[in-house]
Amino acid sequence: MIEDLIETHLFPIHRDGPEREALVARCRNEMNATGMFNLHGFLKSEAIAETLAAAEPLWAEKSFTHQRAHNIYFKKEIPGLDPDHPALRELNTTNHTLCGDLLQDTPVAQLYYDPALPRFLADVMETGPLYPMADQLAAFNVMAYHEGEALNWHFDRSQFTVTLLLQKPEIGGGFEYRSDLRSADDPNYDGVAKLLTGEDDQVQLLDVEPGTLNVFKGVNTAHRVTPPKGPKRRIITVMTYYDYPGAWFTDEERMGFYGRLH
Ligand SMILES: [Fe+2]
Repeated sequence: MIEDLIETHLFPIHRDGPEREALVARCRNEMNATGMFNLHGFLKSEAIAETLAAAEPLWAEKSFTHQRAHNIYFKKEIPGLDPDHPALRELNTTNHTLCGDLLQDTPVAQLYYDPALPRFLADVMETGPLYPMADQLAAFNVMAYHEGEALNWHFDRSQFTVTLLLQKPEIGGGFEYRSDLRSADDPNYDGVAKLLTGEDDQVQLLDVEPGTLNVFKGVNTAHRVTPPKGPKRRIITVMTYYDYPGAWFTDEERMGFYGRLH
């Protein structure tokens, strides 16, 4: 029951009517104005605790340590851009990923597969219908960032990203973003270079509490997560929906992101 997972009296995503319509409109306005929306206190604290408890024994043996050097584009080269251009400087990303197939009996899985969530997201973003992935590895992930680890600056390849923060470190682990750093017409390489050298004064920080649903458009908004300090990890769920049913990652993507095919 979705009532056991989320605060449906505040966020009635499952029940048609004026309250749901008002919520959709509020989220849509926020998305259009800022490129994201946040629902604070969306996931119930019991659901957070149950998911964290299910994940805890899996981290040591079953998680994939995702560690890579990359540039902000996640591409080896950009046609027409000098390989030495400072917009292409190398950055490091490290996290520990648990795939959805290991967490099928958790509240986060119930929420991911409940049709109410993708239907709500599609209504907010005015897309066609959205569907969960058939690929259990990629459908949703739970990721941990330990002290000193980071998700470094990047642009997203998908049109939007859905996350739910499960645990927040004492210090650090903040979501930093620079809105509209580029556009479809203007790659703004010099602006990108300035961001990477810390000279961009339009970087904003989003600081949310566990349980917050964040939906973010990151194709042209550069973003990163700063490293946590102290022993408490940053733990977050990322959910992926597609505009067609039955989506799978390729073998190459599975190996790159999860280190396994099955
Ligand atoms: Fe991203």
